[in-house]
Amino acid sequence: MPFRAPLPIPPELTAARLEIPIRLAEQGILPGRKTKLWTFGGSFPGPTIRRPAGERTEISFHHELPASVGELSVHLHGGHNRTQFDGQPGGLTGAQPFSEYCDISQDLSPRASGNELLIRPGESKRYVYDLTEEGHPERAAFKWYHDHRLDRTALHAWHGLAGMFIVDDGFEAALPLPHGDHDLALTIADRSFDRHNQLTDPFTDLRPPNDGIAGGRILVNGAFMPHHRVAARRYRLRVLNVSQFRAYDLYLSNGAPMVQIGADGGLMPRPVRRSRILVGPAERVEVVVDFAHARGDSVELRSAPHRPGRDPLGSHTYGGPLMQFRVDSTRVPDRSRVPARLRPLPPWTKKVSRRPDHTWTITVGGVFKTSWLINGRSFDPTYCDTGVRLGETATWELHNKTSVAHLMHLHHTSWYLLSREGRPPPPWEDCLKDTFFIYPGERIVVAGRLVDHTGKFVVHCHMLDHEDHGLMSQFRVRA
Ligand code: C2O
Ligand code: CU
Repeated sequence: MPFRAPLPIPPELTAARLEIPIRLAEQGILPGRKTKLWTFGGSFPGPTIRRPAGERTEISFHHELPASVGELSVHLHGGHNRTQFDGQPGGLTGAQPFSEYCDISQDLSPRASGNELLIRPGESKRYVYDLTEEGHPERAAFKWYHDHRLDRTALHAWHGLAGMFIVDDGFEAALPLPHGDHDLALTIADRSFDRHNQLTDPFTDLRPPNDGIAGGRILVNGAFMPHHRVAARRYRLRVLNVSQFRAYDLYLSNGAPMVQIGADGGLMPRPVRRSRILVGPAERVEVVVDFAHARGDSVELRSAPHRPGRDPLGSHTYGGPLMQFRVDSTRVPDRSRVPARLRPLPPWTKKVSRRPDHTWTITVGGVFKTSWLINGRSFDPTYCDTGVRLGETATWELHNKTSVAHLMHLHHTSWYLLSREGRPPPPWEDCLKDTFFIYPGERIVVAGRLVDHTGKFVVHCHMLDHEDHGLMSQFRVRA
């Protein structure tokens, strides 16, 4: 029966120093038997970490999963962090002695492969997140954390290793947007279950370009099609898609508009009224929804199946309900509103060169095995495809030469989309983001300012099977 479970709200952690065990847990997802999961802190999604911008946050993750799981690596997605705390994928280890899709040498030193940065079973690693940019508090944004291990990111995420991370700041707090109980974070994930309510093992022999895992059940905050009671007023909904492959084309069942106020990199310059919002894996959208017109009713958050004409092989956009809001019948005062101007883009976005100084081209191929490739190579932790000097602004083209849509994610900073196929981005992409749809044949141009942190950072598809099957490369920021 849909909408039976109440929407879970993951525990919120706000301290500057946190210890989070990575451990087995059981969670009631479907009626009946509980589901075994691999979790951050005992739940899926893991605890929501909520911190003020500019305040250093140290998290020790203890790997308490069985040794057979092998090494882990935690990435704060959307974060601006030092390379050693960025969740490097690493290379081959005793637990993972070969890679089926990536060309990685077996005799790399732990340093060259990045293995020294991994969390081994039974051990822990401390990650330090400054939440600053050039010495100032960074922009508030809705981020998330997840495992990023070589070849196994999809497997680890499927079992539950993901959680939300919200950075707040004074700029946002001063705006009249809904807040507190009226600021709701929703993580959408698809999973498949066997008849004992356990996760299936979908990691069979789906090879590029047909490797995309889509589950049949949609979970919101770890519950199957839940409901949530809301007051008849405005809410800020932060939506994150942590599915491996699926996209969701969101709309409300009562036809009410969603006013988009934010994306991956925090608030947008101005709100955009939308009736449908496509959210690919790892993308975030923040919307304000007014339930005042639905007093005493219920409203479903739904996803429409497909955008005709686009995306022939990609993303299996879900069709159906995700969750239900049960709107209270009493009239309540609501002093919140959406200002006509939200948060200006940083000034560098206006001055940036529009001519790409590097192109990342996605293909599929290989001699002995078929992998996804960027500029002709699958992932190799020792190889950087381009370099940037610290403090410079990079303008890069991403070109999808395959017949499948991809969702390219760039680490290190928030990026600004300059063009899609030579045309300026639509208003909902005219903002800072870190994950971008690229349709078959398409070219996009993005720019990012690489300050504070030198070293290696990855660029990859966030359809997690694609990432694991080679679609990942690196750039180096030089001093
Ligand atoms: Cu959300 Cu490189 O990852
Ligand atoms: Cu992809």
